[in-house]
Amino acid sequence: MLQFNFGEYTTRVFISREIPGLDKIAADVDPQPDSSELKSNLFFICDENTGYIADKICGSFIAPRCVLKSGEESKTWDSVELILEAARKASCGRDSYFIGVGGGVIGDLAGFAASIYMRGCRFMIVSTTLLGMTDASVGGKTGFNLSGIKNLAGSFYPARNVYMPLECLSTLPEKELKSGFAEMIKTAILDSDDFLEQLSIKNYLDHELPADLIERAVTYKGAIVSEDFRESGRRMLLNLGHTFAHALESAAGLGEISHGEAVAWGIARACELGVMLGITPAQRAEKIIKLIKSYGYIVSSPHPLVSDTEAFFNAIKSDKKKKNAKLTFIVPGTESAVPVTMETENDFKLLYKVLNVQKT
Ligand code: GLY
Repeated sequence: MLQFNFGEYTTRVFISREIPGLDKIAADVDPQPDSSELKSNLFFICDENTGYIADKICGSFIAPRCVLKSGEESKTWDSVELILEAARKASCGRDSYFIGVGGGVIGDLAGFAASIYMRGCRFMIVSTTLLGMTDASVGGKTGFNLSGIKNLAGSFYPARNVYMPLECLSTLPEKELKSGFAEMIKTAILDSDDFLEQLSIKNYLDHELPADLIERAVTYKGAIVSEDFRESGRRMLLNLGHTFAHALESAAGLGEISHGEAVAWGIARACELGVMLGITPAQRAEKIIKLIKSYGYIVSSPHPLVSDTEAFFNAIKSDKKKKNAKLTFIVPGTESAVPVTMETENDFKLLYKVLNVQKT
């Protein structure tokens, strides 16, 4: 078990082969409830693909649940409302345990709903995708997309317990695995060259993912978030590739490209930007882009899904992390990564170059 303190919250992460049953979850809850208290307070949030996992958790017990459509398209306020309404119908109270069973979308929606239901009820995640395990389920970022902009609204509300049953990965479509693996590559760049080397030993998408790789990624993320829960400094390093990625996701139409594929493309752009700024050593950038390519991600620019360059730039400009008209990008350094701000016309010219598009 890994344990982290995020602000006033404690998150415990359980990486296991099997999907946990209710007895296991009850035993892990702190302070310990009796089993009937836990059962009477459970409320599951799943999607069309993860209902069977909630069934496995519950065994013969029937707990109320809200089932959402799967995919990024569901990451809306409407889904949050569906969760809140279903919780009300199930007579959930502030003592209820909202348990999100799914990947990043379900975790973010369930967490956000839990953060506002009766001003905050108890929340856990059973993370069923690689993206959820390597990134989304740890650190308390919750939320939903608004006006076509990724995660425009949300809250910081970490899950108390996060379960990562690796058996769920064996049924994931390749696209999903690939999406999650990009976050693993991102974490390795931030963590150490040793971690990066480990990812180049073999193509892990063709092999069973070892638990220690996931544990390494979670340990790194947990340490960064423990230091800077509300992202006023170091946590922003976790956005490596993300400013480009979010813009690509928005420009392509939310859901058209997986988050991880966009992140992989965004990391390649961040490498190029870093080299142009004299921050990323060219050799390191080359090594990173080569690794990303070897896993089959698109690294060329413009991305084939960007047909409307204007929409693309608008999306970059409206990045929610923009402060006082400055855009912050994270670029790889000689080790790990560093933030850079872009604000002048010259800076923007550099960006057009990196993106290989003409401003209309
Ligand atoms: N996904 C980036 C973060 O949690 O800060």
